[in-house]
Amino acid sequence: MIDRSPLAEFTGQVALITGGGSGIGRAIALRYAAGGGDVVVLGRRREPLEETARMAEKFGGRAEVVTCDVRDPEAVTAAVNGVVGDLGRLDALVNNAAGNFISKAEELSPNGWRAVVDIVLNGSFYCTRAAAQHMLAAGRGSILNVIASYAWHGHPGTVHSAAAKGGVLAMTRTLAAEWGGRGVRVNCISPGPTETEGAGAALWPTDEARDRVLGSVPAGRFTTPEEVAESAAFLLDARRAGYVTGDVLSVDGGQWLGKAVYTDPRAGRS
Ligand code: HXC
Repeated sequence: MIDRSPLAEFTGQVALITGGGSGIGRAIALRYAAGGGDVVVLGRRREPLEETARMAEKFGGRAEVVTCDVRDPEAVTAAVNGVVGDLGRLDALVNNAAGNFISKAEELSPNGWRAVVDIVLNGSFYCTRAAAQHMLAAGRGSILNVIASYAWHGHPGTVHSAAAKGGVLAMTRTLAAEWGGRGVRVNCISPGPTETEGAGAALWPTDEARDRVLGSVPAGRFTTPEEVAESAAFLLDARRAGYVTGDVLSVDGGQWLGKAVYTDPRAGRS
């Protein structure tokens, strides 16, 4: 459980977190609530969202649930307008909802490609577009997109997700430049292997796969959703990260840099 943030940096502010019913999305929602903010969690299944909202309310703020598929632009616009109608403002949007599975590219069906690109890339744009109407009018706001490092280095078996996350990265940089002068910051966070039910079952289903993933992380461990959420909180907080826009914060234990091995130049000499 996350403790109440001594910074109380989100007091009086409102965040919308997509995919807030589990994993990293839930942790970011709870961290925002711990910082004194009100949260709205959006996703397809009501039950896990309500569980997040119950946990978030314990910090004393308001917590609401919206069921919506981010692939439906009209539903997204209605959901975002509803948040502003109910809570009066929107300070932060976290595009965390994702879909992913491992598939060889040549075996991936057009529908499988479409499902992931629709959720990750199109869904992020629909939510961003709807939220930005309010943020630009208010002259303030922070948008945080959850991506993965294969957005820039690629990764076999994830052509749909990598292409979509790469698109989100390009969208982030474009919008940071387009909206930089209007008070709206847009950034990415790139978590490495994170101990969540969804990621574990989908991405390292066997002990052997798990050991292989762990072996690729210089830090030698998985991260936790709470650790990722702490970095997300930094980027969302205008007082600490107000001059940061269009950037990516990797929270991956150094994974994307690769695990080069130190060679002792004195080895073998007498
Ligand atoms: C091959 C698959 C498949 C699989 C689905 N499909 N799973 N193909 N292998 N394992 C294909 C289906 O056959 C279908 O194509 C198409 O994808 C759509 O599948 P549906 O189940 O009908 O779609 P839908 O119900 O909309 O589900 C979307 C989904 C699903 C993306 C496929 O997995 C989902 O909703 N996931 C949400 C949660 C999730 O994935 N979280 C993990 C995020 S972790 P056909 O041609 O048969 O119709 C993450 C971490 C990344 O992203 C970072 C790692 C470092």
